[in-house]
Amino acid sequence: MQKWVAPGRVNIIGEHTDYNQGFVLPIALPLVVECFAAVLDTGDVRVVSRQRPGDRVLAGVGALAAERDRVPAWSRYPLGVVSEFVRRGHRIAGVDIELDGAVPIGAGLSSSAALSCAVAVALRDLFAPTVTDRELIDIARAAENDYAGAPTGLLDQSASILCTAGHALFLDVRRFTHMAGGTTHEQIPFDLDRFGLELLVIDTGQAHELVDGGYAARRAQCDAAAAELGVPALRDIDTIDALERIVDPILRRRARHVVTENARVLTVAEKLRDGADPRSIGPILSAGHASLRDDFEVSTPALDAAAAAAVDAGAHGARMVGGGFGGSVIALVDREHAAAVADAVRNRFVRAGFADPRTFVVVPGPGAHRVD
Ligand code: GLA
Repeated sequence: MQKWVAPGRVNIIGEHTDYNQGFVLPIALPLVVECFAAVLDTGDVRVVSRQRPGDRVLAGVGALAAERDRVPAWSRYPLGVVSEFVRRGHRIAGVDIELDGAVPIGAGLSSSAALSCAVAVALRDLFAPTVTDRELIDIARAAENDYAGAPTGLLDQSASILCTAGHALFLDVRRFTHMAGGTTHEQIPFDLDRFGLELLVIDTGQAHELVDGGYAARRAQCDAAAAELGVPALRDIDTIDALERIVDPILRRRARHVVTENARVLTVAEKLRDGADPRSIGPILSAGHASLRDDFEVSTPALDAAAAAAVDAGAHGARMVGGGFGGSVIALVDREHAAAVADAVRNRFVRAGFADPRTFVVVPGPGAHRVD
């Protein structure tokens, strides 16, 4: 068997902007899902996972749609990818897949995109080498949306496929989705070490689930706000003054998050591009958290406590990452304060009666690739 890996991600800034055709700025995590794969000539897809030793999934390549409701939920990600390749007319003879994931599940770090993308790059190399990165991202996303039933945007899959080590990925989602050629994305150097800084991920341990409904509800509210304003997507609104026309105060707040968050992505990207001291992006990250908490209402008491405790202990900025309703916080800290910030968050969690958080340092890793 050959081996492929695909990373999880954290988004530096740009949350809930992807499905509004806006901007995102993720890095790939050094944590990956490993996919060992080989061609099977039997016309079957076989999938096992080291994380689910009891499940042995076997389905015919031609019967994947029918098998969907019978197979374990985790296996819908790899099977969905195979199914999507087939749906697009690629001939898949059969494939044997063994998975091993090191991206924490439910931590808001895109373990599912890492899983789908690891399988997607493997299938491309084995069966469909002409598939472009952009198609691969679409395939992984369709697998998650249509087969696994998780209504994601394309932030996570893009990060997992396109990110490069040492860089943040600036993606203009509208441009990326609609452009026929030319530059669709940009790698911006993200070297915190040079400035004596570290990026901490604080996993609250409260699992977040995209299939739960809160995420889909936010998407629907954004669509409704855009429709009320008569624009194709909230991306088309540049100023919060324009939002006065939205009658419902909840929809207006949701839209305000998206408009201000897009502006935050552009500002952060510009600062990093100009080589500014990354400490200067700290307050923007914290403002992003406040917006997700107050306007978009996808934070939780544990995420709020982690972000606040980190900043109180000297972090330059902190924010929840991913879809919300649980998951992780990132904090930008001076290297010498990293341990103190992690301790402060732990102490606050103990006092609040939350489970122990797990804190670790991340640096931008490479995107999905084959390991020779
Ligand atoms: C989840 C989704 C992404 C994105 C984020 C919020 O991670 O999968 O597409 O919408 O939430 O930024």
